[in-house]
Parts: sequence; structure tokens; C-alpha cells
Amino acid sequence: MESLIAKAKSIQEEALTAIEESKDLSALLEVRNKYLSKKGLVSSLMSELKTVDASARGEVGATLNMTRSTVLKAFEAKETLLHEEEIERKLESERVDITLPGRSLSVGSINPFYLIRDEICDIFASLGFHIVEGDDIESERYNFELLNMPHDHPARDMQDTFYLTNGLLLRTQTSAAQAHTLEEDLSKGPLRIVSPGKCYRRDDDDMTHSHQFGQVEGLVVGKGVSMADLKGTLALFVRKMFGEKRKIRLRSSYFPFTEPSVEVDVSCAKCGGKGCSMCKGTGWIEILGAGEVHPNVLKMGGYNPKEVSGFAFGVGIERVAMLRYGIDDIRRFYQNDARFLAGFHKED
Ligand code: DAH
Repeated sequence: MESLIAKAKSIQEEALTAIEESKDLSALLEVRNKYLSKKGLVSSLMSELKTVDASARGEVGATLNMTRSTVLKAFEAKETLLHEEEIERKLESERVDITLPGRSLSVGSINPFYLIRDEICDIFASLGFHIVEGDDIESERYNFELLNMPHDHPARDMQDTFYLTNGLLLRTQTSAAQAHTLEEDLSKGPLRIVSPGKCYRRDDDDMTHSHQFGQVEGLVVGKGVSMADLKGTLALFVRKMFGEKRKIRLRSSYFPFTEPSVEVDVSCAKCGGKGCSMCKGTGWIEILGAGEVHPNVLKMGGYNPKEVSGFAFGVGIERVAMLRYGIDDIRRFYQNDARFLAGFHKED
């Protein structure tokens, strides 16, 4: 009995010293395992209790319990201490020096393509046009057939594109939105919409051509809508986009979905119409195609061309942006060169 108490005392001593000397939590944990775990030294003292004479067992047991709780308390106290020390250390090492200058954030800018797209839409919205969104993936029916371009129509040759499965394709013109709008307007009443978006064609990319480009489509339908309305609307658009002095000129052209069809030129901003390198000496720069909506298109859209008429136009977004900002190469819109993009900002 004496010897078990003595053993307990010496283990207690040893354990307390080990706890005291533990420098960090992982060292302390090892000490805990050595003394306090199920098979640890303090616990194994307990299992020796049965060898003690029955009459003395109570007293020895009480001593062993004391040993155990003394070691446990010492362990817990040390654990709290080390924990606090570790937090202190962390706070110290992660301290933020609030006097250091901050890191500056680089602020992105909006691609001029989107600046101009939004500006075109804003101008037409201010004239009462609704903005309609179309899909980049279209069927032949909406991209061609409902626009009076049946399967064997020669005008399709100029609009070869990327074909997907199931007769789907990447649209070649936002004009597809015309067919959708006519079809979806159940009132078959007056319409005034613009539809911006991306178009795709099989094209060899160069300074003025890209296999991907943007257009804004316009469509107006109503009673007595005429070429005069088209001309007035586009003249206003051009003045708002390029300045009050700009004039427009309509040249006769051909599109399957309009009759008559025109191409619209704007007077050159650089030379004011005298002729320079920018307008190739003509004084005019082409910016869009337009015309009176073909009766077949109205009919296929469920409208009666004897009762209503309309005009439509398609304007190239990059083309307008290039003229407005003096950008010389259409590929710049798609190269993501931060030095180029940083030069453009929304004007209030
Ligand atoms: N879709 C034509 C093109 O991509 C542009 C166009 C011309 C649109 C005349 C029109 C239009 O709505 O009336 O070349």
C-alpha cells in the first residue's frame, strides 16, 4: 500500500513537471496521452488498486483519485494558458499596419461595342421603340425563310454561316428578330422595336470583316408607315449619334425582305462632305441597310399588307463605333487588349 501511494506521488510529480515544461499545445497533448489517456500512467495506477489490501483500499483509492484530479487540473490550466499564448502570437504576427498605403484596384471599362450598342438603343428608346432581345442560335425559318429568303434564294450565298444540327444555325442578321416580333405580336397592331445582338458569318477576318459582329435591327409597322418616316427617323438617329451637322443620303439597294430597299450613308465627319481618305473621296460613309418591309414578310408574320405597312433597318454596331471613335480595325473589339479598352468611357 505504501508503495502504490509512493508510486502515485512520483508519477504525479513527474506529470506536473512534464506539463509545466510543455512549450506548445502539441507537446502538452503528448503529456496528456502519456499520463491521462486510458492506458496512461495515472490510469494504470487505478488498475493496481485491486492488489491493495481490502482494508486500505478506500484510503489508497482516495489518494489515487486526488493524483488524477491534480494532474488533470494542471493539464487544463496549462492548456488554457498555451491557447491564449497562441492567439496572442497569431494576433501579433498577423497585425495589419493600417498606415501602409492601400493596394489600388484596377477599374475595368466597358468595351466600346457595348457603349455604342447601348447608345443606339437609348436613342431609339427615346423615340418610343421597345427593345427586344433575340437569340444567337436561330432556325433557317426565322433567319431566312420568314424574311423572304427561301431555300434556294441567291442572297443566302452572301450569308453563309456556322450550321449546327437540326437545321439550326448561328444567325447571320438580327433581322431574324423581325420575324419573331411579327409572329409574337398577337394584336397585329402597330409595332416599334429595336433588337440588338451578335451575328455570325463565314468570313475571312480583316480590318473591316469579322466572323462575329453586332447589329441593331429596327422595325416599325403601322397604318401608312412610309419611306418618309424611315428617312426622318434615320436622319434623327444619325444627328444624335454623330452630331447635329451630319446628313444622310439614301441609295437604292436590294434586300429580299424590303421593297424598296436602300443603303444609308452619313456625311463624312472628317471632311464634312468634301472628300477625304476616310470617306474614300466620296464625302459619304455607308452605315446601314433599310427599306419598306416587303409585303411577303408582313403576310408571313400574320399582318395584312393591304392595311398596314412598315419600315425596317439594320445598323452595324462596330461600324458606328469605328466611325464615332475613329477605330481603324474591327478586330480590336474582340482582342481584349486592356490598353485599347481603357480609352473608352461612357459619356454623360
Ligand atoms: N440584315 C441586313 C444585313 O445584315 C441589314 C438590313 C437591311 C436590315 C435592310 C434590315 C433592312 O432590317 O431593312 O445585311
